[in-house]
Amino acid sequence: MAEQYDLVVIGGGPGGYAAAIRASQLGLKAACIEKRPNKAFGGTCLNVGCIPSKALLDSSEMYETTLHKLSRHGIKVGSIALDLEAMLKRKDKVVSDLTGGIAGLFKKYKVTPLYGTGKLLGGGKVEVTAADGNKIILEAKHILLATGSESIELPFMKFDGKYIGSSTDALNYNPVPKHLIVVGGGYIGLELASVWKRLGSKVTVLEFLPRLLAICDGEVSSEVQKILTKQGMEFHLETKVTGASVKGDQITVTAQAKDGKALSFTGDRVLVAVGRRPFTAGLGLDEAGVKFDAKSGRIEVDSHFKTSAAGVYAIGDLIAGPMLAHKATEEGIVFAEQLTGMKPHINYDAIPSVIYIWPEVSSVGLTEEQLKEKGVEYRVGKFKFAATGRARAMDEIDGWVKVLADAKTDRVLGVHILGPRASDLIAECVTIMEYKGSAEDIARCTHSHPTLSEAVGEAARMAWSGNPINS
Ligand code: FAD
Ligand code: NAI
Repeated sequence: MAEQYDLVVIGGGPGGYAAAIRASQLGLKAACIEKRPNKAFGGTCLNVGCIPSKALLDSSEMYETTLHKLSRHGIKVGSIALDLEAMLKRKDKVVSDLTGGIAGLFKKYKVTPLYGTGKLLGGGKVEVTAADGNKIILEAKHILLATGSESIELPFMKFDGKYIGSSTDALNYNPVPKHLIVVGGGYIGLELASVWKRLGSKVTVLEFLPRLLAICDGEVSSEVQKILTKQGMEFHLETKVTGASVKGDQITVTAQAKDGKALSFTGDRVLVAVGRRPFTAGLGLDEAGVKFDAKSGRIEVDSHFKTSAAGVYAIGDLIAGPMLAHKATEEGIVFAEQLTGMKPHINYDAIPSVIYIWPEVSSVGLTEEQLKEKGVEYRVGKFKFAATGRARAMDEIDGWVKVLADAKTDRVLGVHILGPRASDLIAECVTIMEYKGSAEDIARCTHSHPTLSEAVGEAARMAWSGNPINS
């Protein structure tokens, strides 16, 4: 007889594993299926995404600091050398510690881990095929699809495992590429370009659109371009990549500039980072009657994550919205709570995003461009980190906080931060937006001194009253 569950989750990423744990905490019998051959849960995020990329970003930032910033603090060091082998090993250890942690959480919360590839059979049945070909069938009252996404491949530049690769390859370059050509100036392009630039690569970024980081506030994008150019990266915007060819140990990427001029770039590695698409191959969507958008591949769901097939749900990178780990996790938790009769909700207008270049970029809510497009009257409060004591003490004075508030009600509509530890500073703004707070609310909260958070308080004070104290 088939094993019976209340909930079977297909995909053990930040969406799927969080849903399985929350469901089990709430009394459901839950199983989570993961197909990675190394049996590691955590999905793209822990295995080949957020965590390894941040481990390398932190390590490479330390290298950069040691090379170029310590002397400004009066610290002299002897000869400095890069041990790439050790840096990559540390990254792998961070990953294995965290994925092992999920196995521990499953044990603690009595989630059944299942290793293999899950497939919908229809009628509440799921088939799991193990690596050795062994199959088992599960029966579930509810089935959650959380199979995430995969890198988009350019048809004329297929991943070849050596010269042309995805983010996964770019987490393991060894030796450091001499010249890394990055196709796509988005999240992955800029984060991984930063890693390898700091470790010694020449970096050229080719972007199709007229600006980097198209999802960001326009002022952030142009400032990021200036700062990264100062760090030594080369950018070609409005550049259409047309092909690539390998000769000897070099690869040449051909492209077309906006004015039609033919361009070519020769390097030793190409990172293609032109977006990701939902991963649904072999899931049995058609057989089970799960509708998805043919163009984007995203599965269609209602506000309770229900798909068009009874008892089948989907979350995370598989459905609409930003492809971010915290969005997937939030959906996983809310899904499980809704299933057990609770009434939580997700405010999609208050999901933050962070780009972990240096200085960091973070944002929540609407950009100035979006406010203009919607015809909303708004006030801008902008405060430079250079005017805060803490940024001066740290010698990290690039960037600013920009608070956008409704001109009539003062309600915070968006916050955009470019600066040191912007990743942590955005949390306060998310809370304020979640509670529909005003710029005055932020300004009137006491911000410790001296901290970088004072820039948030001052930007809010400016948006609300037009008068910051320290500028
Ligand atoms: P995934 O994490 O993709 O997990 C899906 C899992 O399902 C995978 O492990 C897959 O093996 C498994 N699976 C697929 N099909 C099957 C099947 N049929 N049977 C069983 N298992 C299956 N987001 C952030 O918020 N912050 C970051 O800093 C960040 N950095 C990133 C860096 C990189 C280089 C990349 C590539 C992504 C990054 N992301 C980041 C995005 C983030 O990783 C994703 O948004 C997130 O992992 C999506 O979670 P998910 O649970 O929907 O799917
Ligand atoms: P992206 O959507 O962020 O950026 C892709 C870029 O490639 C865009 O600027 C696009 O205009 C450009 N592009 C598309 N086709 C092109 C072409 N043919 N030639 C040149 N440029 C082209 O996608 P990316 O960087 O691949 O990341 C995928 C997703 O992963 C992100 O959207 C994000 O959701 C997630 N992610 C999140 C991170 C974070 O939260 N810090 C870090 C890394 C990834």
